Amino acid sequence: MRVLGIETSCDETALALVDVSPAGACLRHEVLASQAPVHALFGGVVPEIASREHLRRLPQLFRELQEAAGVAPGTIQAVAVARGPGLLGALLTGVSFAKGVALGLGAPLVGVNHLEAHLLAVELEQAIPLPALGVLVSGGHTELVRIEAGEGAYPNFTIIGCTLDDAAGEAFDKCAKALNLPYPGGACLDAMAQIGGSVEPGREIFSPPYVDNDNLDFSFSGLKTAAVNAIAKYPELMRRALCTYDEALEAARSEPALAAFCASFNHAVAKALAIKAERALGQAQDVQSVVLAGGVAANTMVREALHAVAARAELQFLVPPPALCTDNAAMIALTGGRLALAGRRHGAGLEAIPRGQAIPQDFVNEF
Ligand code: KG4
Ligand code: ZN
Repeated sequence: MRVLGIETSCDETALALVDVSPAGACLRHEVLASQAPVHALFGGVVPEIASREHLRRLPQLFRELQEAAGVAPGTIQAVAVARGPGLLGALLTGVSFAKGVALGLGAPLVGVNHLEAHLLAVELEQAIPLPALGVLVSGGHTELVRIEAGEGAYPNFTIIGCTLDDAAGEAFDKCAKALNLPYPGGACLDAMAQIGGSVEPGREIFSPPYVDNDNLDFSFSGLKTAAVNAIAKYPELMRRALCTYDEALEAARSEPALAAFCASFNHAVAKALAIKAERALGQAQDVQSVVLAGGVAANTMVREALHAVAARAELQFLVPPPALCTDNAAMIALTGGRLALAGRRHGAGLEAIPRGQAIPQDFVNEF
């Protein structure tokens, strides 16, 4: 089944064509327009601007995708769209565009849960041995998810732990903003942390947050505040004005205290994720694999820490390449295709669901 995927939940406008079958999936082509340079001027995503940019870019990206993939629109057999969670206005642009394309092509429409799509993204490369422990770490969410075989070959997802306040990606971005690093800050902090190198025991500036308990939840707001307070106390860590990615790396190379600060911050996040994931594995003996997903899954220390957790438990470790960790349309097409193959689809009444609201299981039989 050839599936068009549409992703507009935050600040990336993305379209992809993926061929999905019960045996696996093959990415034919994808196009992505990042709005990061626009939002960087404001130090974070401006929802109104994000919606307008999606609207402006979607038609031209759709044309580009068809030309580059050399695929006639008539061969598209399903239209999959991220319906939430995300920024409501941004989601509405993608959902409306998807309805128009589905109606025009006479193809079924499938609304996709963006978080389930993150967790399934790795299936563009290899099948996930189930049951699996999903570690979903993005800009808006930090969750431990049990993924198990479901009805009609579409898995069931059960959240077994989540953040009580900020997501890990949010903590990265806020810490980076306080240092005057370019937006979005996660990838830049990651590169600076690499320059800082490994954090030896006893030399940590930050400790892993919210781990001295016996639950599977996370809390990153305390770590974020600790980082912001430390920067206020040692303002020499901060760039005087918003700097570029290259300037940030140069600063980390020439200022060991800054590199050590970034490394310790990143280490604390990675360790908190690893401790809770290991705890979850201890509570579920039947788990076959560990899946790391979401934008923060692109982070070097996070990948290493979760890989080590899986290795200690003698489980397979699955993580997509960095481009499939951050928001993309290939994961939406793949997930929509899996839903369509399991007989699930939506009608013209498909609603966008903002962050904080549950995604309903409101599949229908007709458009
Ligand atoms: O999954 P995603 O692209 O969007 C959401 O669904 O939120 O995640 C974006 C988040 C941002 O907070 C960004 O700073 C973070 O992922 N991120 C990283 C890295 N690459 C992206 N955080 C740490 N290290 C990275 N290499
Ligand atoms: Zn995402």
